[in-house]
Amino acid sequence: MVVRKGEVILAPMAGYTHSAFRRLARRLGADRTYTELISAPGIVHRGIPKKYAFFTDKERPVHVQVFGRNAEEIAEAARIVAAELKPDAVDVNFGCSVPKVLKTGAAGKLLENPAEIRRIIEETKKALKPFGVPLTAKIRLGLEEDRLEEIAEALFEGGVDAVALHPRLGKQGFSGRADWGRLADLKRISPVPVIGSGDVKNWRDVERMFEETGVDAVMVGRAALSNPWIFTEYRRKRDLKVGLGERLKTVRDLLEDMFEYYPSREKACFEVRSILVQLLKGFDQSRELKAYLMTVKGCDEFLRRLEEQIERFTRP
Ligand SMILES: Cc1cc2nc3c(=O)[nH]c(=O)nc-3n(C[C@H](O)[C@H](O)[C@H](O)COP(=O)(O)O)c2cc1C
Repeated sequence: MVVRKGEVILAPMAGYTHSAFRRLARRLGADRTYTELISAPGIVHRGIPKKYAFFTDKERPVHVQVFGRNAEEIAEAARIVAAELKPDAVDVNFGCSVPKVLKTGAAGKLLENPAEIRRIIEETKKALKPFGVPLTAKIRLGLEEDRLEEIAEALFEGGVDAVALHPRLGKQGFSGRADWGRLADLKRISPVPVIGSGDVKNWRDVERMFEETGVDAVMVGRAALSNPWIFTEYRRKRDLKVGLGERLKTVRDLLEDMFEYYPSREKACFEVRSILVQLLKGFDQSRELKAYLMTVKGCDEFLRRLEEQIERFTRP
């Protein structure tokens, strides 16, 4: 079974859930992680992009997520990923609905074409078989209209091993509310494990999603960016008040891991800032700290200021 009952999973989030953040989430109690979405034609024509696909054993079980337009390019990308990286699963993204991606006919656009979804799953499953790597899919309810049952049927007939559902329409983006009732509907008809995703804001919501929908596993997205401790909180069933010192140390630890696979230290220091902003959310000092830490000349100065602030906020 690719996903076990009761798992709490870090959701794929482009720009955030690269290797360092996934390692952090696993350390803090996430049971499984996904890479952010990676272009299938990109993999086929230019090879596997290190920044997005790099992972270590510490992140396992890890699903490498790919997106593309058709069965041929997705199956071939999955074969390359399985052969070169040996992930715990390959995941196909049928959810991303940003205009740039929809225009190419990929990802969320495929929600309008269940027949192609079925072909993609069939062909990709065939491509993965020699490697013994399972195949999962992440979907929304549809693009313009809710076609969940048709889409799910296509996935099941194609032979998918588990399905994650973010129960919004593609056209909604992140507006409105995730319809957890549809998670329960999918669970009722699914022969494979169902993972629920959407609007889990704290550890109590993890519990509530399990109870209200019956899903096998719960995925945590945005809430984990500002509070990766949510995984520990759920395990311990209590709130953890993690202070600024610990949060700034977390940024330093993330950076150290990022130096391993980022093309340069400067790039790593620049990009860790998006996670820094998330981790500082909700504190009185966040404005001041962001201004101080983000107006630096380069990586060395950033690290120096970071150490100084860690010292300041961890002093007894
Ligand atoms: C910044 C950001 C990037 C995302 N990138 C991906 C992605 O690469 N692949 C994917 O399947 N979903 C992606 N998602 C969707 C999340 O995995 C998740 O399904 C969604 O955010 C709902 O869960 P939440 O309310 O817990 O955030 C992304 C979401 C956010 C906010």
